[in-house]
Amino acid sequence: MATRTTTTGILSEDKNQEREEIIALLRKAYWMEIETVMSYIANSVNPDGVRAQEIIESLQEDVQEELGHAQQFAARIKELYGVVPGSLDFTAEQSYLQPPDHQTDIVHVVKGVIEAETGAIEHYNHIIEVTDGVDFVTQDMVIAILRDEEGHRRLFEGYLREYEAEGLA
Ligand SMILES: [Fe+2]
Ligand SMILES: [Fe+2]
Repeated sequence: MATRTTTTGILSEDKNQEREEIIALLRKAYWMEIETVMSYIANSVNPDGVRAQEIIESLQEDVQEELGHAQQFAARIKELYGVVPGSLDFTAEQSYLQPPDHQTDIVHVVKGVIEAETGAIEHYNHIIEVTDGVDFVTQDMVIAILRDEEGHRRLFEGYLREYEAEGLA
């Protein structure tokens, strides 16, 4: 008998509770990406000095990637029958990525980016664990996004190493 109701997988009716839990995690991820976009825009414009250029270019690229992540999280929220939240639900958390006192303080920016990426990596690992065996599609999507964040963090760890080697961090 044909029916429109899915009886297997995360979209089935008896998976309501699991969906709600995953949607809540995806909303948090969505806001993390949105805030990262804001922080990376600011930090791709503010820095001054000859050392700033590499950081500026990296963050300009990352803005587009993080925006793409936010769009993926939003799309997945809808696919799970959730609603993408409105801007009034947003609460900022990235205290470590506020503009430094001096715009030549590149180490502040590099450390802030590493902290933001680390937060994303931790949250996305958690989503991958929660969705294991429950929602493979979300899991697959988040694994791909996790790889991007690991790449971002590794790049900025490399920048930090250079500053440390020169006694600047
Ligand atoms: Fe991201
Ligand atoms: Fe990232």
